[in-house]
Amino acid sequence: MKRHLILSLLAAVLTGCGSSDCTNRTEENFNLNWEFSLNNGTPRTLDLPHDWSIEGEFKEDNPATAGGGALPGGLGVYKKTFTVPKEDADKQIFLCFDGVYWQSTVKVNGQKAGFRPNGYVSFEYDVTPLLKFGEENTVEVTVDNTNQPNSRWYSGSGIYRNVFLKKVNKTHFVEPELFITTSNVSATSADINIQTEITGEGGYDLSVKIKNPDGTQTSEISDKITAGELKKLEKITVQNPQLWSPENPKIYSAEFSIKKDGKTLDCYTQTFGIRYFSFDNANGFKLNGKTMKINGVCNHHDLGALGTAVNHRALERQLEILKNMGCNAIRTSHNPPAKELLNLCDSMGFIVMDEAFDMWARKKSPHDYAQYFKEWHERDLEDFVKRDRNHPSVIIWSIGNEILEQWHDISTDTLDIEKANLMFNFAAQLSQKDTKDDKVHVNTMLCKKLVEFIKAIDPTRPVTTGNNETEPHNLLFKADALDIIGFNYHDYNWGEVFKEKFPGKPLIITEAVSALQTRGHYIAPADTEYLWPARWDLPFDTPDHKCSAYDNTRAPWGSTHETTLKAFLKYPWVSGIFVWTGFDYLGEPTPYGWPSRSSYFGIIDLAGFEKDVYYLYQSLWTDKDVLHILPHWNWNDGDIVDVWAYTNADEVELFLNGESLGVKKLSDDTSKLHLSWKVPFKAGELKAVGKRGGREFSQTVKTAGKASQLTASADRNIINADGEDLSFITVNITDENGTLVPNSCNMIEFEVSGPGEIAGLDNGDEVCHESFKGKSHSAFNGKCLCIIKSKRGEKGTVTVTAKAGGLKEAVAVINTK
Ligand code: GAL
Repeated sequence: MKRHLILSLLAAVLTGCGSSDCTNRTEENFNLNWEFSLNNGTPRTLDLPHDWSIEGEFKEDNPATAGGGALPGGLGVYKKTFTVPKEDADKQIFLCFDGVYWQSTVKVNGQKAGFRPNGYVSFEYDVTPLLKFGEENTVEVTVDNTNQPNSRWYSGSGIYRNVFLKKVNKTHFVEPELFITTSNVSATSADINIQTEITGEGGYDLSVKIKNPDGTQTSEISDKITAGELKKLEKITVQNPQLWSPENPKIYSAEFSIKKDGKTLDCYTQTFGIRYFSFDNANGFKLNGKTMKINGVCNHHDLGALGTAVNHRALERQLEILKNMGCNAIRTSHNPPAKELLNLCDSMGFIVMDEAFDMWARKKSPHDYAQYFKEWHERDLEDFVKRDRNHPSVIIWSIGNEILEQWHDISTDTLDIEKANLMFNFAAQLSQKDTKDDKVHVNTMLCKKLVEFIKAIDPTRPVTTGNNETEPHNLLFKADALDIIGFNYHDYNWGEVFKEKFPGKPLIITEAVSALQTRGHYIAPADTEYLWPARWDLPFDTPDHKCSAYDNTRAPWGSTHETTLKAFLKYPWVSGIFVWTGFDYLGEPTPYGWPSRSSYFGIIDLAGFEKDVYYLYQSLWTDKDVLHILPHWNWNDGDIVDVWAYTNADEVELFLNGESLGVKKLSDDTSKLHLSWKVPFKAGELKAVGKRGGREFSQTVKTAGKASQLTASADRNIINADGEDLSFITVNITDENGTLVPNSCNMIEFEVSGPGEIAGLDNGDEVCHESFKGKSHSAFNGKCLCIIKSKRGEKGTVTVTAKAGGLKEAVAVINTK
C-alpha cells in the first residue's frame, strides 16, 4: 500500500502579507480598462476577464462547429496603457496571466515579452527591462483563436482569466519553487517539510511562521538562506493537526519572510492544509486513515452564459450546487483549471483530479495543441504542477485524457525520431516484463517520461490518465509508471476481472456515464433504454433535438447513471468516480449536431438548474432525507405515466388526488436505485410520502393550469459592490397558484435599475440560439436564469423586473454593499 502525504498551500491572491513591515510585494489587479478589437474591427473598452466568443452569434458555419459551441473565434488584440512610478525603478515587475485562450503574444512598449500557445496554463513575464518608469507604457496582447476546430468543446477566446502586475524587490521568493510536504501525519502530530528559493545575491535571514486554522501561531522557524539555492528547511512538527478533508476543510497558513540586516525584503503568505491518503486495490481510497469513496464529477471550464470568463462567485455557485448533491470531487477535464477553482476546492472541501492535457503529440482536432506538444509540453507541465502542487484539494495528477498514444495503430501524427531518442533515458528504466518482445513502443516511453517528469517536481501525489483502452495492452499501461489505473467507462471491466488483469493496482473511474438528458423533457416508456446514437460513428437526429430526463438515454460508449452507480457501489476497490458531467457545457452536443450547441451530459443544465437525476446522487451521496418524484403532472387523461422516485426513504407511498397507489420499498428490488409506478393520468395532485428512521417527508407535483405569472428568486440578495460579484435570479413561469408550468417557454424581458447589470441570461435549452448577453430571453420548460453583476464601488439597491406578455411580472431586489 502506498501512502501519499502532503501539506499544501493555497495560492491565494497576495496583496502584501498583513504585517506592517511587509509592503515589499504587491500584486495589482491589472484587469481594468483594456482596449479590445476583434479581427481589426472598431476598438472598445472593457475589463477582464473577457471571453469574446460568448458575445458572438451561434452559426452553423462558425469554424468551431457545433462541437466547439458554434460560436466565433478570430484574432483579438487587447491594449492597455499604464504607468509604473519612478519609485519602483529598483523593483522587479512581472506581468502575470492566469490564462489566455490561446496562442498569445505579449508586447510591452512594442517589444516582445513572450509567446504562449497553451490556452490553459498560467504564465508570467518579467517585464522590468521593457518598462519606462515614471512614463506611460503600453502593453499589447494578441490572441489568436482563428484556426478552428482546435478543441473538442467550447474553448472561449481571449484573456479569460485574471491579469496582475506584480512588483517585488530584486530579492524575492521564487513562488514556483516554494513547496511544502508533510510526513508522519497522524491525529496527534504532523511533520512539515518546506522547500523554498529566493533571488538576489549572497545570504539572507529566512523565517517561516505557521498559523493554525483559527489564526493563532503554532510555530516559527528561522534559518539562513543563500540566493539561488533550493533551501530545504528543517522539519516543523505540528501537534494535534486539524486534518483537511471534504467534510472539514481546515486551512492553516504559513508566513514566509526574508531579511537582510534586519530589513524585510520580501514576504509571502499562503494558506495550507494537512492530510494524508492512500489508494489500494482492496479497499480503494483512504483519507486520513478512513476509507471513503471519491464521489466526483468532470466539468469543463465554461460557466454557461458567462462563457469562459472566470468568475469566483459563478464557480462557487457551481460547487455549492454540487456539494448539496453530495459530490466531493472534481476532475478538471481536460486542462489546468482557474486558480480560483482550486482555492474554492481547498476551502469548500473538494478533492481534485488536476488534468494537464486532452492530447499529446497525436491530434484530436485539426488545429489543436498537438502541434505544440513537442516543443511545449515540458514547460507547460512544469508550470502546471508547480502552480498547483501546494493545494490540499489536489490529490491526483492526470497527464491526459483518452490520449491517442494508447494505441499503436492510429495513423495520425507520431513522435519524431529526435524526441524518441531523447526518451531513451526513460526507456532504459522500463522493466522487460512489460514488453512482449524486446521493443518498447515510443508511446510507452512517452508515458513513462511524463510520469517521471511530474514525480521529479512532486513526488507526493499519484499520477494517472483517463483511458478508454482499458486492456493491459494499452501502451500507457505498459509503461508500468501510472500509480492508479484510470478507466473511462467500461463498467463491465471494473469487477474481479480488473484485479486479474491489473494485479495489485488501484483503480479509479476517471470518467463514466455519458447519459443524455434535457431538463424537464420525458420520453416514455421510461424503462426502455435508448442508445443515441446506436453506434458512435452513425448519424443520429430527431426533430426536436431533445433527450429524456428519465435516466434512459445514453451514448453507446457510456451507461445510464443508475447502471454506472450500481457498478461503482458494488466493488470496494473502485476508489472513486468522475461522472461525465456535473454541469452541461457549451459544445459537444452528442447525440446531435447543429442546431444543438451545448451538451446533454450534465446532471445539472447549462443554466445551473438541476435535472431529475441530481436527486439520485443526492439520495446516495448524502444523509439528507431525499424524495424526488418525476415527471411533471401535466399529461392527457388516459395517458399511462411512468412515475419515478429518487429517494433514500425506507418506504414510499404514492397518492393520486388523495388515493393511495401503494407503498414501495427500494429493498424489494435491489436491482434498481429508483422506485417506479405506472399511473393512469388524472389531473390534480400526485403526492409521495416517504418514511425513514421514524421521520416522514413528502413531495408533491401538481397539474399546472395556464401560465399566469412569473416568480423571481435570487440566490443571494446581498452582494459585494466590487463589479465582480453576482446574484443568480431564477425566474419561473407558474399558474395562478404558483405551480410551475412545465413546457412553457415565454419570452421574458428584464429591466434593471440601480447599480447592477445583466451579466448573462440562459434557460438551459441546448438548441436555443438567443444571445446570452441580451435584455430578454425565452424560458425553457418553465425556467429562465438572469445573472446580475454589481458595479464597482456603487452601493445601493438593484431592482430586477421580469416581464412576459400577459403574465403578472416579478421583481427581485438585490443590495450591493
Ligand atoms: C469521453 C471524453 C470526454 C467527452 C465524453 C463524451 O470519451 O473523454 O471528453 O468527449 O466522452 O461522452
